[in-house]
Amino acid sequence: MKFKFFIPILFLFVVLSSCKTQQSTVATPASTDVTQIQGGMWIPSELKGKNEAEIKMLGGNLTAEAIYNTEKPSIKDAIVHFDGGCTAEIISDKGLILTNHHCGYDAIQQHSSVAHDYLTDGFWSENLNAELPNPGMTASLIVSMDNVTDKVFANTKNLQGEELNNAIKSNIENLKKETKIEPWQEIQIKPFSNGNEYYLIVSEVFKDIRLVGAPPSSIGKFGADTDNWMWPRHSGDFSLFRIYADADNRPATYNENNVPYKPKHFLPIKTSGVETGDFTMVFGFPGRTDEYLPAIAIDKIVNKLNPDKIKLREASLVIMDKYMRKDPKIKIQYSSKYASIANYWKKWIGETQGLTKTNAVAKKKVLETDFQKMVNEKNLTQYQNILSDFEKLYPELTDKTQARDYFIEIFLRNVDALTLAFQLYQLQRVNDNQGVAAFQKEKDQLMDNIKTFYKDFNKDVDEELFAQLMYLYDAKYARTKLSDEGRKIQWQNIAKELYANSKILTYEGLNGILNGNNKSPLADLNKDPLLAFANEYIKKFYDELNPKYLEVKSQTDELQKNYIKGLKEVFPNMRYFPDANSTLRVTYGQVKGYEPRDGMRYEPNTHLEGVMEKYIPGDYEFDVSERLIDLYKTKDFGTYAENGKLPVNFVGTNHTTGGNSGSPVLDADGNLIGLNFDRVWEGTMSDYFYDANICRNVMVDARYVLFVIDKYAGAQRLIDEMKLVN
Ligand code: ARG
Ligand code: ASP
Repeated sequence: MKFKFFIPILFLFVVLSSCKTQQSTVATPASTDVTQIQGGMWIPSELKGKNEAEIKMLGGNLTAEAIYNTEKPSIKDAIVHFDGGCTAEIISDKGLILTNHHCGYDAIQQHSSVAHDYLTDGFWSENLNAELPNPGMTASLIVSMDNVTDKVFANTKNLQGEELNNAIKSNIENLKKETKIEPWQEIQIKPFSNGNEYYLIVSEVFKDIRLVGAPPSSIGKFGADTDNWMWPRHSGDFSLFRIYADADNRPATYNENNVPYKPKHFLPIKTSGVETGDFTMVFGFPGRTDEYLPAIAIDKIVNKLNPDKIKLREASLVIMDKYMRKDPKIKIQYSSKYASIANYWKKWIGETQGLTKTNAVAKKKVLETDFQKMVNEKNLTQYQNILSDFEKLYPELTDKTQARDYFIEIFLRNVDALTLAFQLYQLQRVNDNQGVAAFQKEKDQLMDNIKTFYKDFNKDVDEELFAQLMYLYDAKYARTKLSDEGRKIQWQNIAKELYANSKILTYEGLNGILNGNNKSPLADLNKDPLLAFANEYIKKFYDELNPKYLEVKSQTDELQKNYIKGLKEVFPNMRYFPDANSTLRVTYGQVKGYEPRDGMRYEPNTHLEGVMEKYIPGDYEFDVSERLIDLYKTKDFGTYAENGKLPVNFVGTNHTTGGNSGSPVLDADGNLIGLNFDRVWEGTMSDYFYDANICRNVMVDARYVLFVIDKYAGAQRLIDEMKLVN
């Protein structure tokens, strides 16, 4: 849908077909069709002009300088890349940060045991001293972000292939060396737009991040997997951490004497609420989108790639669920793994449906026809064969991608013993390639980290996962010629045998091999039956699967880069943004409901009433704690309710993706009004095809966050350090 304003034919078609929902649900500023300026993940250092004007049209008062400034404090100084995968924001002058419950989930789980079950009961630190350190966790702030495309491409005009790549590499190295940064800062030069552009990003990476507070999962994960990716939603998906710095307010690793970080800017929190049509801006670190793929790529995702990935994950979820329901210990051990496997399983299902329903393939084809026509007319020979080359390459790329998907899902995602085998395989390679000293160092580190692995490992669960997934792998690629039933039984027997005889399935066992007094731990590793089994597959992955995939992938990447360049050249008025790549971005839209199906309309806000409507006593997804029920019954909502109702979640048209979780939602003046945590199912295809009619992001209302901290947890000390505005 994002192309609709630059391609006349498509423009008419789309705008006509979208007007109906548009007019009926939204009060727009002036008479502009604001769906036209929604979607897009923009670069914060380049908002001046066009984006600034769009922000204004949507009702925002923020200038480009207020959002991003390297001379003065600006909103960007409050935006945190949380532990590499999520976003968080600073909400006090003592480095207090707000992110999602599901982003802090691993940390909360790591501090939990059956005796102190913070996942179930929540956690609220009494004071600074009681905040819990999280070794390895990071929180990064962006100092600056500059377009260095010209410098990266300097003197490369007549180069191609390997030569071009090497010249780019060396330009990047030189640029890194030339750029002056402070000793505590880090520098990154990243490709954007599939390598058509480059940005130099300076950041400060804080390494002492402590857990401050988390609601019980019955609030933070209310609705769990049933409600995940859905609307209407009723989840208090938030948790609180704090950035600690050294005495000079600079990044440092954990030290008892570190102090709360003093930020350049923190976000005030608005308590007067949101309504339909209000301006919203989401500021964060979206991970990955592929908005400019050709139609054939989308077709393959819908019809080939997603279905098999969904099938594999489904198999593993059924098994985990069976054990988790029986045993409370397994439930804690596997809850994080289950949630993360279920998450994309469900997303892929919604994505497949959304791409189908919105006719993404057909719409992309219309664009491609237009593109080819213009290319031919203007005789732009460099773009002449892009589309036909895509058609030639994609069938092959899809096969290779699928084979790789199977390996990754089984060896790196779903079967823990195989993931461990993969790590041990790497360890052996360190020995082969870097020598004994490096091996010793890696080995010690691995043994250190591996404790948490065993804490959450159950042999029976894993054995069944192994048997079932290897059976599916085998069935797909038919390594053995057996009946389906025979194949199933064969893998159960193999699993039984391997899991009974392997030594790596306990910490003591692995430690015995690696640190026992035998002289050749590597030889012993190789003798382990499970490793011997896994190594064959891993070796095949490295020797065959992956190189073959990369070979085709590099060709399609090159085409894609050229295609994007061509699109921009052929349609110069196209509203174009570079795909998400885990860098800081701004996206804006409005609070707005939607029509998921004919005859149905979703309101944009939910309330505590809805939590009570969904309440199922004792259920692992929909239970509600007594305390919340009491507060509900007595309507003890503090100052956070509106017309006697406590707001919980809301949706808007902000274009977000994975990584945007925990991102602040800002109002027209830059105050925090919500916390992004999800998208609606009908619109998860927005990673490939954003459609303002149906794509919505889901946010926790800031007032629900405040209510839970203040009234539910009684953590007044945290409210006191925030700045609330009306
Ligand atoms: N779907 C959201 C995202 O992709 C939230 C996931 C966390 N919640 C859950 N129930 N698994 O990350
Ligand atoms: N839930 C996602 C995240 O964790 C956000 C999304 O995909 O919309 O980043």
